[in-house]
Amino acid sequence: MTGPIEHLETLAGKVFLPPEEFAANAVATAALYDEARADRLGFWADQARSLHWHKPFTEVLDWDNPPFARWFADGELNVAYNCLDRHVLAGNGDRVALYFEGEPGDSRTLTYAQLTSEVKRAANLLLALGVQAGDRVAIYLPMIPEAVIAMLAVARIGAAHSVIFGGFSAESIRARVEDAEAKLVITADGGWRRGKVSPLKPAVDAALEAGGATVEKVLVVQRAWDDSQELAWTEGRDLWWHEELAQVDDDHEAKPFEAENPLFILYTSGTTGNPKGILHTSGGYLTQVAYTHKNVFDLHPETDVYWSTADVGWITGHSYVVYGPLANGASVVIYEGTPDTPRPGRWWEIIEKYKVSILYAAPTAIRSFMKAGREIPARSDLSSLRLLGSVGEPINPEAWLWYHEVIGGNRAPIVDTWWQTETGGIMISPLPGVTATKPGSAQTPLPGISVEVVDDKGNILPNDSAGLLAVTEPWPGMLRGIWGDPERFIDTYWSKFADVPGGPLYFAGDGARRDEDGDVWLLGRVDDVMNVSGHRLSTAEIESCLVGHPWVAEAAVVGAHDDTTGQAVVAFVIAKARHAGEAGADGATNTLRAHVATQIGAIARPRELFIVNELPKTRSGKIMRRLLRDAAEGRTLGDTTTLTDASVMKAIADRLRH
Ligand code: WT7
Repeated sequence: MTGPIEHLETLAGKVFLPPEEFAANAVATAALYDEARADRLGFWADQARSLHWHKPFTEVLDWDNPPFARWFADGELNVAYNCLDRHVLAGNGDRVALYFEGEPGDSRTLTYAQLTSEVKRAANLLLALGVQAGDRVAIYLPMIPEAVIAMLAVARIGAAHSVIFGGFSAESIRARVEDAEAKLVITADGGWRRGKVSPLKPAVDAALEAGGATVEKVLVVQRAWDDSQELAWTEGRDLWWHEELAQVDDDHEAKPFEAENPLFILYTSGTTGNPKGILHTSGGYLTQVAYTHKNVFDLHPETDVYWSTADVGWITGHSYVVYGPLANGASVVIYEGTPDTPRPGRWWEIIEKYKVSILYAAPTAIRSFMKAGREIPARSDLSSLRLLGSVGEPINPEAWLWYHEVIGGNRAPIVDTWWQTETGGIMISPLPGVTATKPGSAQTPLPGISVEVVDDKGNILPNDSAGLLAVTEPWPGMLRGIWGDPERFIDTYWSKFADVPGGPLYFAGDGARRDEDGDVWLLGRVDDVMNVSGHRLSTAEIESCLVGHPWVAEAAVVGAHDDTTGQAVVAFVIAKARHAGEAGADGATNTLRAHVATQIGAIARPRELFIVNELPKTRSGKIMRRLLRDAAEGRTLGDTTTLTDASVMKAIADRLRH
């Protein structure tokens, strides 16, 4: 047992020292910072050597052609072998790899030996269906073991996966499948969500009806279906996963692939209407996620039970449900459903049931639990928890302190981890046995990572000032590009600070401040990207979706503050004159909100939508989102003098008050 954490007051707020006993047994020590500082590339090479290389690398980093980095490029490895076979060969085949908890209460446990055999079998199936190294496979599955098996099977044969979050629409599937030219889709009939079957295959059917001509086969996992409905089936294209698996064996030898072989594409929203296919490759990515998972979460794989609540449809699900934890031989909990099904407190029941020791969750979830009240977690025994993580958005100090006290029993250190889909792995975070933590700050770049807060010209700012967050040195898990669009890759991330000494620097899109101790505080996005429940949404993408509706002439979308979700989508819409009747009718705003949910996914549905006569614009025709945000957040309006028509904002503000 660890004692209560002592805390001190500093100028920056409360500081929580690592508990002594925790520090004494911690995986990461302060020496890591010294090692990385002394020889950064040597440090990364050492981390990479903790993986199994079929062919060892001799070169660490090739940065001759920035921003196109190559890490460990002459080495060869197999990502799935690193996550599976090597643990079995080391004698850990009986260790649990996955504890699966279905929403209805069904459960399954897979040991490393069992998971390895399932993945080998699935790899044989993919090969039998003609999938080859270099091909792309789209995966649209609930949080069930097959999602992990499918990802690892694709990786095992050297193909790349594109996982599409199960909450995304048919149209989002079509766009992603077409952009990546996927050969195969792996889906399920449906999954369990809030006590009901949430259909998945029908969305894939609709997507492939509208396009996606490169798809040859659709593999369907049998998970959940409402038998009163007919499950459409396209003969010759659709195949049941379990029937096909029964025809192949589980004997498969993992072949080595180059370190820079593509591992996956994951789409994320940017500042335009089109999501970007972020490309990650094998050796560098796996090195960073394994290293960060072990050190940030203080993983003791023989004894810990680790649970990241993220869905595999997001980067956290890739890096810290699948690749990082399994590369480290961890026992991982995966849960299919929502936190409050069948009753509030489901998460805490899961923690008690599996004796979860490490929990990784998003601030939005913490805030909604805070709202529901501490008596709910108090019903479960949470004493197994010894470390808590946070990711996705800044965690406000109130939520941090609640998490610490109510969930962590004032005993478990909290790691607030800053990173992005693009960074592949965690970049800024405390080390739990080393860092005195400060609620609300992600604090320190990890050993091996170089981050600065800079001004608009790329000049490094001193402590106690705010600016933009930049990564100043390449890192192993960095994105290698945007699929099919090298220009956009350069423009989006590397052009802002292209010419500074030591550049180009990576522009993260986040504002940040260093406090008087040099700790980093994240201040939110500086571009037109919103963060809703820790997920990235683009204002432009939702606007172009709204304009795609026949009633809509123009749309402006802003992210307004929301107590639970961080930000919420608020839309302002001008109707076309000839559709003024429909757009003025009762329920019209709900129709338009639902349109966004069907076109993009439920997560993008505007919390509020206002039909207005005009939008505030500058004389050059640019929509003034700042003013709309002020109005949506109920603030008095900022400077309106640059508007063509200052009365527009008054009319909108009056509308909002009603
Ligand atoms: C954006 C990246 C990283 C996995 C989940 C989100 C914000 C992320 C933090 C944090 C403050 C954070 C940033 C970042 N963000 N973690 N600990 N503190 N902000 O991945 O969808 O790629 O979004 O999330 O704004 O740029 P993502």
